[in-house]
Amino acid sequence: IRKIALLTGGGDCPGLNAVIRAVTRTAILKHGYEVIGYKFGYRGLYNNDYIPMTTKTVSGILHKGGTILYSSNKDNLFDYQVEENGKMVKKDVSDVAVENLKREGVDVLVIMGGDGTLTSARDFARKGVNVIGIPKTIDNDLAATDLTFGFQSAVNVVTEALDRLHTTAESHHRVMILEVMGRNAGWIALHSGLAGSADVILIPEIPYDLDRVVNKIKQRSNSGKQFSIIVVAEGAKPKGGEVVVNKVVKDSPDPIRLGGIGNKLAADLEKRISDHEIRCTVLGHLQRGGNTSAFDRVLSTRYGVAAVDLIHNRDFGKMVALQGNKIVSVSLEDVIGTTKTVDPNGELVRVAQSIGVSFGD
Ligand code: F6P
Repeated sequence: IRKIALLTGGGDCPGLNAVIRAVTRTAILKHGYEVIGYKFGYRGLYNNDYIPMTTKTVSGILHKGGTILYSSNKDNLFDYQVEENGKMVKKDVSDVAVENLKREGVDVLVIMGGDGTLTSARDFARKGVNVIGIPKTIDNDLAATDLTFGFQSAVNVVTEALDRLHTTAESHHRVMILEVMGRNAGWIALHSGLAGSADVILIPEIPYDLDRVVNKIKQRSNSGKQFSIIVVAEGAKPKGGEVVVNKVVKDSPDPIRLGGIGNKLAADLEKRISDHEIRCTVLGHLQRGGNTSAFDRVLSTRYGVAAVDLIHNRDFGKMVALQGNKIVSVSLEDVIGTTKTVDPNGELVRVAQSIGVSFGD
């Protein structure tokens, strides 16, 4: 092995810079490999847009969220939008990427991403490219690993937001709703709801009954607690209802941003609760920004070093993962399309229920 290339794909996430730093430093200091970094994920690979990586390039970035290599969402080179005869068409342009890698003399591509980005990583591995994957998403919904980096940082942000909402909720006797990320899985809502002492936690895995949520608020009022805190994952839905993930209706002349589940819940509760004001906060991308937590800095560094170990052993087509407290590797063939969701009968849900948290079920 002489040369390795890095890329970060999909939504950004705290810990990406820590991985970039760990891979670069280990590759250069321990093995003397040359390192380059493609910019804007797969788009940079297609355009052969990269920067050389040195220990200087990665100096001072350990704590910073985001990615110094930039990222692009939903860029899939196996189904990529290109212009042909003045028209935009979707094409498989993965051969261009393979050619670029060959021309630059890249022996291995290290890809940091979630399900979508890692699906392409697997497809490049199938084409014979030497690939190593590193699991990234604040949602923590990749099945092959106990933890993705970025998750703990997001949970810290949400927990702090819940602490702040508590003091203002209590002062005004209000019901405060906090909408958090998690389209398919309620991990952020569940962990931060527990850490931030939410009274109601609504997650995609447990469709909620509005009556139960109303009852919980009334029960608290009757016992003298004149405020309630609800944390709701963006993918949560009422029983028999629709998911209302924050979307933009792009094809209207004046694009409309639809409200998410938090605001819908606020509107629904307002019709049912008269003795408390209701307010909703959508935390959005604050959950992905800022500094990386100490835990994620360590996890990301472990993942980065493990990725270079795999490269050194020529053990390609793998993703590094955490199982228990051990860093292991799993085949990229086994990690795709296996969303890890919250078990409604699992330990954490039972813990929350035992201390009186309602899931609205
Ligand atoms: O996958 C992580 C995630 O944070 C989701 O929970 C959220 O729906 C999505 O990214 C939003 O990403 P973006 O606004 O970058 O499209």
